[in-house]
Amino acid sequence: MSQEYFKSPKKKGKLAVFLSGRGSNFIAIHDAILEGKINAEIALVFSDKTDAPGLKIAQQRKLDTLSLNPKDFNSKQEYEQEIIKELKNRKIDLICLAGYMRILSPHFCRQFTNAILNIHPALLPAFPGLNVQRKALEWGVRYSGATVHFVTPDVDMGPIVLQAVVPVKQDDTEETLSQRILKEEHKIYPEAIKLYFEGRLEIRNRLVYIK
Ligand code: GAR
Repeated sequence: MSQEYFKSPKKKGKLAVFLSGRGSNFIAIHDAILEGKINAEIALVFSDKTDAPGLKIAQQRKLDTLSLNPKDFNSKQEYEQEIIKELKNRKIDLICLAGYMRILSPHFCRQFTNAILNIHPALLPAFPGLNVQRKALEWGVRYSGATVHFVTPDVDMGPIVLQAVVPVKQDDTEETLSQRILKEEHKIYPEAIKLYFEGRLEIRNRLVYIK
């Protein structure tokens, strides 16, 4: 167990949002910034998919966007090195993974220790990985939800910042449960980022304390 201590910075933060698809969490974060709820600006929206709908929305919102196709690189290492360069050039303070469906290498995670957040559509540590709303239905859990957590090299296992619980109904389908969870994601992700740049998140021995 790590003995680290971390306190999030109180400042106007520069965010990079990473997405691979629709981008509804990105929109929720951007809207919260526009409404003055989060002391931050989105300095980059990055995607591994050139045709990600979320990327198009970011362009319409006149944000700086970048998409890099991993297939255009010789290795994952080269691919990530290019992304790291773009992030460092923009002096990014916090990376927000918002439906980014690619696993970041330990090397990448270490470049941004305590500076990457992820949103996951389940109550971690239950149901890490993919298709987790379906797995929740298959297990017959009565409650599921969403988790915002720090990203560490152990996938979906970093310190938990916020969670929201939703009931699972008997007649739920993957879609209806996903929608109920997504509504909560849109609340807790902006809230976690707000707390981060208010300097109110502390990590001690891998537990997050909200000040
Ligand atoms: C969200 O439900 C998010 O929690 C999930 O992908 C969806 C993206 O939706 N992320 C993961 O499953 C990460 N493992 P969005 O593109 O509309 O924000």
